[in-house]
Amino acid sequence: MSINAGVRDQLLAAANNVMNHAYAPYSKFHVGAALLTSGGEVFAGCNVENASYGLTICAERNAIFAAVAALPAGKKLAIQAIAVANSQNVPCGPCGACRQVIAEFAGKDGVAVFYRGSDGLKQSSIAELLPDTFSF
Ligand code: THU
Repeated sequence: MSINAGVRDQLLAAANNVMNHAYAPYSKFHVGAALLTSGGEVFAGCNVENASYGLTICAERNAIFAAVAALPAGKKLAIQAIAVANSQNVPCGPCGACRQVIAEFAGKDGVAVFYRGSDGLKQSSIAELLPDTFSF
């Protein structure tokens, strides 16, 4: 999946912006995610934590669920790309649960995933991040 640099930068900026909305009083680790649909729309989400830690939801899944809720009824979300940003500028790819949810909504050419790796900005496909995805 090739995403042009302008679109990539727009997604990264949206992810950085929504990161400031994170509710993360426990970990203090603020995360933002922004995705691009096959129709060219952008949806963003941040992590939201809870005193009952296991109820925490990641930024990536919040962006995806917002997109599902906003799309016309019956139209399946198809993600072209998703960018993830974090407040501590540390390597942070999507967690395993989010990889499975991203894979569920992969567009026809897969999903380009942008995130901070150990050497700065990294691009991987969802197929690389989650090979042999479970599907039903
Ligand atoms: N988190 C995300 O939002 N996305 C990720 O890909 C990794 C982790 C959040 C969950 C929790 O609020 C905090 O980061 C620390 O795990």
